[in-house]
Amino acid sequence: MKFLTAPSDDELLHYITTEDPQEMEELFAAARAVREEYYGLDVYFRGLIEFTNYCKNDCLYCGIRRSSPCARRYRLDPARILECCRIGDRLGFRTFVLQGGEDPWFTAEGICRILSLIRREFPDHAITLSIGEWDRGSYEDFFRAGANRYLLRHETAGEAHYNALHPPDMKLSERKECLYTLRDIGFQTGAGFMVGSPFQTPECLLADLRFLQDLEPQMVGIGPFIPAEGTPLAAYPQGSVNLTLRMVALTRLLLPRTLLPATTALGTLAGDGREQALMAGANVVMPNLSPQNVRKFYSLYDNKICTGDEAAECIRCMSLRVRATGFVPNMSRGDSKIPLRAELRVG
Ligand code: SAM
Ligand code: FES
Repeated sequence: MKFLTAPSDDELLHYITTEDPQEMEELFAAARAVREEYYGLDVYFRGLIEFTNYCKNDCLYCGIRRSSPCARRYRLDPARILECCRIGDRLGFRTFVLQGGEDPWFTAEGICRILSLIRREFPDHAITLSIGEWDRGSYEDFFRAGANRYLLRHETAGEAHYNALHPPDMKLSERKECLYTLRDIGFQTGAGFMVGSPFQTPECLLADLRFLQDLEPQMVGIGPFIPAEGTPLAAYPQGSVNLTLRMVALTRLLLPRTLLPATTALGTLAGDGREQALMAGANVVMPNLSPQNVRKFYSLYDNKICTGDEAAECIRCMSLRVRATGFVPNMSRGDSKIPLRAELRVG
């Protein structure tokens, strides 16, 4: 397949919408080749700690939104978060991802204290935060306290679409601003979007790809929309696995050096969804390190997988899946090959 280095909007729209099996296979093969050129066959493992499902936001699609009548709330205290890191370290993880709703119980100072505790005990590990929108000063404090990476999906780069998925107090411009700020501070920054969310058009997905090209993030999380009970969008259809895979592959081709997770949401919609994502250019998996008794409460969408297993069992299962697909599990930090802004400035 001849994938152009600088595809036009029409060319991208063609690959976003194609259902032709041969064309899709060529697209996935091209993405695999590019990923192999930059990252070989390695698949990087990250330990995910979902430390709170309280959230002050009310995103219309999200199962842990503020006004969800279904969410059973929990938060882990700093000692338990640290204990999850210790378990993860013993299992071989060198990256911890701390994710949660925007929970006001955790102030910026509180987050910094937790980061300092983790950093003191694990000086060489990568610490990733995924805790939503904060002001620049707080992001700088997180960075100084030891966080190196930050995941903040932009969700959709189409403004009208963003407004249809979020309450009026949330703005796409502010989300994007946060991402540019994180990048400027020197975080390895992750953006990303849902595929097949209600009201999405191919043009929205084109806007996502163009936004990613401009931001050039070190990581891109792409997962299908899955309806969540008790949310205003619960009755809308789930996103398509094939379309999600095409978006993973196109992102790999446009941003060859970015890190692309094979997401749990894909694994939820198809038993081999994560393996298919690896075959379409993804190169990261995120087994769950959250304590078993709270896992099922971090229910962003219905029927989420991996809520019952022990952490060790999650790794074993993911390692088998990765190997069975012809790839090699890699537990190292696995930093992105996209240089940081700070390095760019020095250069
Ligand atoms: N609060 C943080 C934030 O806003 O970035 C992190 C937690 S948030 C729940 C993590 C991601 O879950 C969101 O960025 C969104 O893309 C995804 N998500 C939420 N609801 C979903 C749904 N119904 N289907 C698929 N993904 C969903
Ligand atoms: Fe806050 Fe989903 S609405 S994490």
